[in-house]
Amino acid sequence: MDKVVVSLGGSLVVPERVDEQFVQRAADLFREISKKTKIFLVVGGGRLARSYISLGRKMGASERELDEIGIKATRLNAQLVLSAVGKGAFPGIPKTTSFAVKKGEKYRIVVMGGTEPGHSTDQVAAELASKVGADRLINATNVSGVYTKDPNKHPSAKLLEKISIDELTRLVGGSYWTEAGKTGVLDPGACGLIQMHKLKTLILNGRDLNSLRGAIEGKNFIGTTISV
Ligand code: UTP
Repeated sequence: MDKVVVSLGGSLVVPERVDEQFVQRAADLFREISKKTKIFLVVGGGRLARSYISLGRKMGASERELDEIGIKATRLNAQLVLSAVGKGAFPGIPKTTSFAVKKGEKYRIVVMGGTEPGHSTDQVAAELASKVGADRLINATNVSGVYTKDPNKHPSAKLLEKISIDELTRLVGGSYWTEAGKTGVLDPGACGLIQMHKLKTLILNGRDLNSLRGAIEGKNFIGTTISV
């Protein structure tokens, strides 16, 4: 049975408020696919994390405290996704990737959020992928993949079907975590782990459930494949 780790972007789960329809549809998909493929989901914080982090920042919280706030938001979102998935999933939210690996031995689906300060859930997903020996790591986000330029600013930007991990690392700007709540197509720490462990990684728009299904099943999808 293939093992797949999905970094489910918080921007999909909580773009402004919780996208109830997306959560429900994605959960149905995960439940169905998990009959043939073991799925590990790492859920991001989205607007929930960002709004709490910006409030905390105003109140003078340290970067570490802001990360802790972010982690709690990711775990709250993970709990909601877990409730939507229901049957077949481990009925708890692992706080470490090692515990998630253990639960994955018994359950078809394991859902978790963040672990510790200093990175985003993308890095948690990459760490988990290396520990379980995942066949694929999927970054389901709110853009279709990696573009030649910022597609929001440049309408001529083209979606890249493939990009090397070296090129992507250059694009995301080095391999250091900068501050809580900062977004990018992939966290620099995750890039480092993908490179180190040669993780087969796919980036796609998670709202395109056909692509999400294709990527999880190892079939066709619209998005970017990272070559390692
Ligand atoms: P996210 O993973 O949602 O990060 O975690 P993000 O980059 O803001 O959003 P995506 O990737 O586009 O969905 C939210 C925040 O929680 C903290 C970080 O501050 C992060 O920015 N966090 C999360 C941690 O410190 N450790 C973790 O393991 C996860």
